Amino acid sequence: MLLCNAVAGKEFIARGRKPLIMYLSREEEAIYQGERGETPRRMMEILVALGDIYGAEKLVAVKSVQIAGVSYKNIGEAGLEWISDLQGQVVVPSILNPAGMDLCRWQEMGVGEDFAQKQQQIIEAYRKLGVIIDCTCTPYQIYEGIAGLGDHLAWSESSAVSYANSVIGARTNREGGPSALAAALVGKTALYGYHLDENRLPTHLVEVEAELQGSDYGALGFLVGRIVKDGVPFFRLQGPRPSADELKALGAAMAASGSVALYYVKEVTPRPPPSAGQPEETLNLGRKDIDEVYAQYPAGGAEAVALGCPHCSMEELVKIAGLLQGRKVQKELWICTARKIAQANPHLVAVIEESGARVFCDTCMVVSPATERFARMLTSSGKALAYLPGLAGVGAGLGSLEDCIDAALGRG
Ligand code: F3S
Repeated sequence: MLLCNAVAGKEFIARGRKPLIMYLSREEEAIYQGERGETPRRMMEILVALGDIYGAEKLVAVKSVQIAGVSYKNIGEAGLEWISDLQGQVVVPSILNPAGMDLCRWQEMGVGEDFAQKQQQIIEAYRKLGVIIDCTCTPYQIYEGIAGLGDHLAWSESSAVSYANSVIGARTNREGGPSALAAALVGKTALYGYHLDENRLPTHLVEVEAELQGSDYGALGFLVGRIVKDGVPFFRLQGPRPSADELKALGAAMAASGSVALYYVKEVTPRPPPSAGQPEETLNLGRKDIDEVYAQYPAGGAEAVALGCPHCSMEELVKIAGLLQGRKVQKELWICTARKIAQANPHLVAVIEESGARVFCDTCMVVSPATERFARMLTSSGKALAYLPGLAGVGAGLGSLEDCIDAALGRG
């Protein structure tokens, strides 16, 4: 039985299902009933199921979507079939998460032909749906208007979600691949979780009594994520204002070692909602705590070095190029970035690659099967440190950017 209610000046329809919690507009209900075709019906079904599970009252329009479930390593044959089966076109700007290989230079990565063929099929399936074929976890580095303060989004990749929520001040849950694609094809997501002020209140005050720089932010995030898990930390930092790349590293590490999707940094990020009080728990961390992370995951013994987790910005490529200029690497050194960043900076890519290092696009050390041939990698990323052992079966050490370059040059 359908019930019509007037909510906020619009007509909404509550479906006669249990639990009866979510309202759909007439247009949404038409999609749900299959009047706009089978793919929109299936996608709406996913959104409504999630909304019902999490107690969403309604759907909300999203400005952009970032879709996980791209690497063939992660989604396999079943995922490829599921995506290939869909029809229609996305209705909001939608971008992909990193794939399992550089889409152009996969042979140089050591990726096999069979995998490459499957990966290309996945990319083509997304292309057919109108998804922009940029495979990156840092869409905010390449598309300025993709997210703004207060915008609702449906992004998937955990570091991108953290950056969007925390640094940009947008609102997104961490979507799975199917729910992100559903949001892309419908243009909406269920209104729950981090879309609502009540879930954006700080849970932990984190006092950091040390001046941090570069990879220290990854180490800090690695530590804090383990402690606060899915909490919302509010940091008070000392020293210079963290850069966008340092905030990116902090959020990425907390999302990987814990499942932090939102954090605040006093006088740096957008503020918590006005209803926020004092967090219930306080953590005090200092230089000793950060140094313990490095000591626990030492730089030595790595066969290869991987930078660019999350994907390198232009500023990071400038630093790496400066450290490598005129030198030759002794170990494999991968630098992962978005293709558009590499294409916009050919001179930096040339300097880096003259050293023997490789700038790989569209992929990363965690989602590519090519990493699995190494027993141990060195990285400057707290997120890669957390994920390499579990997801790629590769031991990991943590070092500063300079330590990582030194190790690649055979000085470490
Ligand atoms: Fe991005 Fe891969 Fe790291 S998706 S955040 S580079 S694990």
